Amino acid sequence: MTETKQQNNRWQRPDWIEYLWGYIPNFAGIPTGTSHDIGHFLNVERNGLYLARHTSGASQEVISLFALLHDSQRHTGPEKEHGIRADIFARNLRDLGYLDAMQTQDFENLSFALRWHSDPILTREPTIGACLDADRLELSRYWMAPSPEMMNTEAGKAIAMQFYPDQIHAGDFLK
Ligand SMILES: [Fe+2]
Ligand SMILES: [Fe+2]
Repeated sequence: MTETKQQNNRWQRPDWIEYLWGYIPNFAGIPTGTSHDIGHFLNVERNGLYLARHTSGASQEVISLFALLHDSQRHTGPEKEHGIRADIFARNLRDLGYLDAMQTQDFENLSFALRWHSDPILTREPTIGACLDADRLELSRYWMAPSPEMMNTEAGKAIAMQFYPDQIHAGDFLK
């Protein structure tokens, strides 16, 4: 197993993050078969880890936690406040000691990305940018192409440019 990890050069969740992925979806009552279920979380993590491999300075730990938490408090329709609730949820996890392994700046980046991920903001901060892009790229599940101009990372912009031009452009319509 270790050899496979090394051969693929893939980032693996450290145990403390794997633990959170194991229990938070159930704890938070994440529904299945919806557009914001655990499948979406995993897709956002996959996107973000890909972007991190092409974005200097992007934290894979923060991206994995963002993917897990960003829509974990989104239970009722497309309301904006779920990002704020996700930030509060992360702060509660930190206060309970579940995020003790995180650096302070990493937590601040996670907090910012969680709180504002539904808003059409742009940033040059690589970790926050990769988090936001990873989620925006998932607009494709609604058959909407994410807008290149709304991508924060060069890798995200390159992916967005590849979507077929006859797809509806997402513009600043963000989930
Ligand atoms: Fe969201
Ligand atoms: Fe999302």
